[in-house]
Amino acid sequence: MSRQLPKTASIAEVQSDGRLVAPSAANNTRPICQVLRDVAPKFGRALELASGTGQHCVAFANACPNLTWVPTDIDEDRIASIGIYVSEAQLPNLTLPVRLDATQKGWSNTTGKLDLIVLVNLLHLISEAEAQTVVREAAAALAPNGVFLLYGPFMRGGELTSEGDMRFHESLVSTDSEIGYKDDFDVIDWVVDAGLDVAHVLEMPANNLSLVFRKSE
Ligand SMILES: C[S@@+](CC[C@H](N)C(=O)[O-])C[C@H]1O[C@@H](n2cnc3c(N)ncnc32)[C@H](O)[C@@H]1O
Repeated sequence: MSRQLPKTASIAEVQSDGRLVAPSAANNTRPICQVLRDVAPKFGRALELASGTGQHCVAFANACPNLTWVPTDIDEDRIASIGIYVSEAQLPNLTLPVRLDATQKGWSNTTGKLDLIVLVNLLHLISEAEAQTVVREAAAALAPNGVFLLYGPFMRGGELTSEGDMRFHESLVSTDSEIGYKDDFDVIDWVVDAGLDVAHVLEMPANNLSLVFRKSE
């Protein structure tokens, strides 16, 4: 499901060719690619949930060239933008985008088994129940040894730990009381309950976290 969000939640400028450019995606691409180089399986099938503009999937496919990448999103404008990036990049390991609602129960039955699932900056924009569905579906879609990378802003042990995070969380909650930052420990519990093991918890720039999980063999 697509929700009403404050303007600051998903900023992207439209270019003359229709592609979208998000400053946040430009800023966090390099650190996320570094995490991927360290934790991603060397071969196999990778799915990106909530891909956004398409900036990330091109960088991810370049960073992990032996994985075949499928970008996805719920929003038609985003899918169109991703398609432009994908077509221009002409990478053999990056497919055209697929529409996928990450909060829809059952999507894991449609993807086939995946070796890597990446989700950047979605959990704070959806409800807790929706976030739990995302996590359960991602865990179900992974093949043995598959990796789930969750990146974004989180509460830390129930606390908002910077003024920017407090402002952003408040803007989310005042627009839609069901959304807002999720707690890092809660999210880890949900993923572990869904059957994955915690592999790494990494501090990232701008007070974000990368939570990396692995499915056992
Ligand atoms: C803040 S943007 C992040 C985009 C990208 N991951 C990034 O970090 O640049 C949130 C994205 O989530 C997508 N989205 C929102 N709800 C979704 C859902 N239920 N399933 C899949 N994508 C969703 C939006 O269309 C948007 O592209």
